[in-house]
Amino acid sequence: MRIDRALRGAIAAAAALGLFAAGCQSRRSGGGPVSRDAEWRSPTFPADWRLREGQSVATSPRGMVASSSAAATAVGVEMLRRGGNAVDAAVATAFALAVTYPEAGNLGGGGYAVVHLTGGSDAALDFRETAPAAATRDMYLDASGRLTSASLEGPLAAGVPGSVGGLLALLERHGTLSRADVLAPAIRLAHDGIAVDSALARSFAEQRDRLRRQAPGSALLSNGEPLPLGARFVQPELARTLERIAAEGADGFYRGPTADAIVAEMRRGGGIITHDDLAAYRPLWREPVRGDYRGFRLLSAPPSSSGGMVLVEALNVLETFERLPPFGSTAGIHLYAQVLQRVFADRNEFLGDPAFVQIPSRLTTKAYARRVRSTIDLARATPTAALARPGREGTETTHLSVVDERGNAVAMTTTTNGFFPAYVPGAGFFLNNTMDDFAAQPGQPNMFGLVQGEANAIAPGKRPLSAMTPTIVLARDGAPLLILGARGGPRIISGTLQVMVHVLDHGMSLPDAMRAPRVHHQGLPDTLVHEAGGFAAGVLDSLRAMGHRLEPGGVGMSAAVMRVPGGWQGVVDTRRGGAAAGP
Ligand code: DON
Repeated sequence: MRIDRALRGAIAAAAALGLFAAGCQSRRSGGGPVSRDAEWRSPTFPADWRLREGQSVATSPRGMVASSSAAATAVGVEMLRRGGNAVDAAVATAFALAVTYPEAGNLGGGGYAVVHLTGGSDAALDFRETAPAAATRDMYLDASGRLTSASLEGPLAAGVPGSVGGLLALLERHGTLSRADVLAPAIRLAHDGIAVDSALARSFAEQRDRLRRQAPGSALLSNGEPLPLGARFVQPELARTLERIAAEGADGFYRGPTADAIVAEMRRGGGIITHDDLAAYRPLWREPVRGDYRGFRLLSAPPSSSGGMVLVEALNVLETFERLPPFGSTAGIHLYAQVLQRVFADRNEFLGDPAFVQIPSRLTTKAYARRVRSTIDLARATPTAALARPGREGTETTHLSVVDERGNAVAMTTTTNGFFPAYVPGAGFFLNNTMDDFAAQPGQPNMFGLVQGEANAIAPGKRPLSAMTPTIVLARDGAPLLILGARGGPRIISGTLQVMVHVLDHGMSLPDAMRAPRVHHQGLPDTLVHEAGGFAAGVLDSLRAMGHRLEPGGVGMSAAVMRVPGGWQGVVDTRRGGAAAGP
């Protein structure tokens, strides 16, 4: 009963699916959901909150693609229009992102995908990078045992890339179109080029020095300067690399000329990835992490990502409260902070690659959530034991959400971890610095300020712990209600959690849920990060009085799809841009 009352808006929207009129056109909406259920509740944001209503929203009865690049979204839509399914569209979009969105879309990184197929079969694919065979626990420490910056930039920072193997495995197992078909648009975009838009121009310009250091010959630079707004961004070397993948599959990347180029760059720049490492790379099919939250089921990324387990643990703790405090209230923000602080402490202590560590299964049980809840003081912030340097939010990850006409859904997040950390001359793509996601020195913070333990120490062949959280929420009829995920390092988890809770608990429409201000806490550093301008000054004062150390900052960016009466609604986070569109 209680659940029905709290969630009637979202459930009503899902239940109304049977009433959908056929044939309405995909279109951009100027406002909230096209078919707003009477039960949806409009939140109130501070008058000066910078994210306005109604941007980057699309609706369609026949499916939806949402990604951080309009050109890549168009590729996914093209696949759906040709009769491809959500997997075809997601894979084609991801390959296109490697061309049109090189700050995060990639061939040289890795990621996770969660798939729901109508008829009830679910799957998760872990295509996370792996530590090369020559990796050692202390490889980033100097002779006196101090942590160096070698995990951040250059060939030694790279794990064995997983994206190409992962995308091809997804296509082979669950796609319907040919490899050539799904790669053709990415090849075309690399070959013909795209116009540099303001977001690309900004990210190239911001990374000018790093690009000059790591990728002097890359197509992102012209005469040593980043391509400016409006320039044609043509990538002939990347086009040839993609053509080899289209022709030969995984062997076109993990063996032959591309592998030779990667290994040559390792030798030149002091990296350790070998031909054997590349040939041995395998994506891993795993069971998704499953959770249930107030009657909704969810599927999310399993370890080696922490995303799914931490999300489920946090939701379980929130569910111990019959009703959450109102959105934007002191009590609500305090509760998020206390929950996130505790679930991150578990993450950082217990989670790691399941091939190397035994992960306690209790973490995602309702009984454990009750224990965690009993440690929360609703009146005071609990100090995390020690302080570390502040974490940051990254922008070098990208999430895409796709659903097709039949209700097959894919949530996928991929990353190179850091901006343009290393480059493969001759092959036209960037490698990752995902080795920094390990605890390079357990107890010391990584680039996101995460203080992690032995469970995530470096070992050969091990996958570094991730926070990526591609997630599919299923309504009571068993069909997808929400497809979401985010970028933002550890803030991925907090951002994904809040968009979900905004919809499921606070009754927000997806556009409101996405633009609503967010908060983050990761235990250490012991700070409550909040989006500046998003919360009333009095609320922030009260939080300070409760013992919180506040710090303004971004909290994840998302591209999400939701089932609404009339079809599907796609929303892209206006914190960064991109596009949602239906076929
Ligand atoms: O896997 C992880 O948790 C990180 N490598 C994600 C990095 C990230 O999100 C950076 N940018 N948005």
